[in-house]
Amino acid sequence: MTDRQLITLRVNGEPYELVIEPRRTLADTLRQDLGLTGTHLGCEHGICGACTVLVDGAPARACLMFAVQAEDRDIRTVESLADGDELSDLQRAFSAHHALQCGFCTPGFLMLAEGFLAERPEATREEIRELVSSNLCRCTGYQPIVDAVEDCARRRQASRREHDRAACGEAERSGHAAGA
Ligand code: FES
Ligand code: FES
Repeated sequence: MTDRQLITLRVNGEPYELVIEPRRTLADTLRQDLGLTGTHLGCEHGICGACTVLVDGAPARACLMFAVQAEDRDIRTVESLADGDELSDLQRAFSAHHALQCGFCTPGFLMLAEGFLAERPEATREEIRELVSSNLCRCTGYQPIVDAVEDCARRRQASRREHDRAACGEAERSGHAAGA
């Protein structure tokens, strides 16, 4: 007998109620039950990383997790990156650096990098090289992926600095106006 369970998943900010077998993987649930086929399945053994998604912001192999384990946690898939037709900065960097060829591994690398850069915004190239070694790509030779992630990290750093400078200028101007 199979005991099916009612669970609620939060995926890309949307709540979903599902009745599923406890042994159903998160990857199968995302792809087959929710139609989010951007999450790819390669080895299904935790080796290739094609199925990488973010669970509470941290990269996780969706093929190694049961969907029931993801209840009450925030799941993000590659579908969450673009804003409509507008690619995210990380996706644009992958495109600009030719960091994909067949594209099979790409959703996994994107989510791996997205989670990592949120945690380590000042990541060094060495750290990025180490990061990408956890997923497999059979086409690119990895160098363009490292270039893309590093480029995205540097652009985000520059934009943060710009934002901080603007905020400082604004605070100074308000200070002067208040003292005038
Ligand atoms: S499909 Fe999950 S690690 Fe390969
Ligand atoms: S682009 Fe083909 S496997 Fe990575």
